[in-house]
Amino acid sequence: MKALILCAGKGTRLQPLTYSMPKHILPLANTPIVYHIIKKLVNLGITEIGLIVGYKQEQVREKVGDGSQLGAKITYIVQDTPKGLAHAVKMGQDFVGDEPFMVFLGDNIFEDDLTNLVHRYNEEKPSSIIILKEVDEPQRFGIAVLKDDTMIKVVEKPKNPPSNLAIAGVYIFDKDVFQAIDELKPSWRGEYEITDAIQGLIDKGLTIKGEILKGKWLDTGKPKDIIDANKFFCGKLNGWHISGDSDLDEDSIIDGALYIGRGSKIRKCNFQGPVVIGENCELENAILQPNTCIGSGTRIKNATLKDSIMLEDSIIQNVEGTIRDSIIGKNVEIMNITLNNKCTLLLGSDDKLIGEL
Ligand code: DAU
Repeated sequence: MKALILCAGKGTRLQPLTYSMPKHILPLANTPIVYHIIKKLVNLGITEIGLIVGYKQEQVREKVGDGSQLGAKITYIVQDTPKGLAHAVKMGQDFVGDEPFMVFLGDNIFEDDLTNLVHRYNEEKPSSIIILKEVDEPQRFGIAVLKDDTMIKVVEKPKNPPSNLAIAGVYIFDKDVFQAIDELKPSWRGEYEITDAIQGLIDKGLTIKGEILKGKWLDTGKPKDIIDANKFFCGKLNGWHISGDSDLDEDSIIDGALYIGRGSKIRKCNFQGPVVIGENCELENAILQPNTCIGSGTRIKNATLKDSIMLEDSIIQNVEGTIRDSIIGKNVEIMNITLNNKCTLLLGSDDKLIGEL
């Protein structure tokens, strides 16, 4: 089976971070979101993957390359304008050919290994099978109504949800979906909705199965979702992995899981893991509390961070108070400021937050 990963959206809910980068390469535990997805597919035995790219695609290409480092073979498929999920899937038609294929939304993270989904598809041979998860805010998602385990109705982001079972971003389709997509008209939000194509399949009498997830599902659309997903991956880390090429002094205190990349220099720091530090970072007098992940080439001096993500090449110096639940883009400078405890930061690339001492 081949798979398509949809990575062509603009990630507007993550602006200003996504003004300069696609959300699919934002790091979770210092690993790009799309890597986590590719790894999941490779674990399922799916290695031929079509990446649907568009917005800032050169950055996705640079990070993922041909996929061989992850055991995958990546083919890039361009969707010039993000006209909707159904339109994105249609772009992959030549790549998948006539065989059943998996679609994975490029911003969705799952705890389950999804083997049951593939297993059920192969056993039951429905037209399609779709992952579902009970949610608290069904208005935010595509919603399905099941009779036993078969879908009888689906609707995209309904005002009055007919159930709380959200369509959770992984689908297996057969080639019938392409005809259903060809018959679509744009929705009220101007997009070709995959949910409408699924309803088209139901209306034709084809069998669409629902597979209800047991484990966690993280849709990383908004900043808080990214922080939560980062925590989720940090929670899986254990032990100390300190590169032999790094320089960690004896005055630093370590508690919990800690990863330090090559060339990083650490002086008088306090690590309360899980904490991940990239390559060639310089840290002095920093207190890094749980779920803090620091990208390569960053410098931190006299600051405390907690539940936060810092991208590459940024500088934080002399911050009073804790930087918490924050995402700090590339090449950002934060200096000489005081934060109160409720303050969280969301800074895009090259932003500057500089106060006076
Ligand atoms: O997250 C689950 C939800 O994802 C489902 O419950 C909904 O039924 C489904 O429509 C979708 O809703 P979103 O509004 O959250 O989709 P979003 O625009 O965030 O796009 C999901 C992924 O697909 C994201 O990685 C970007 C990519 N994409 C999106 C569009 C609109 C494309 O590759 N091309 C596109 O044209």
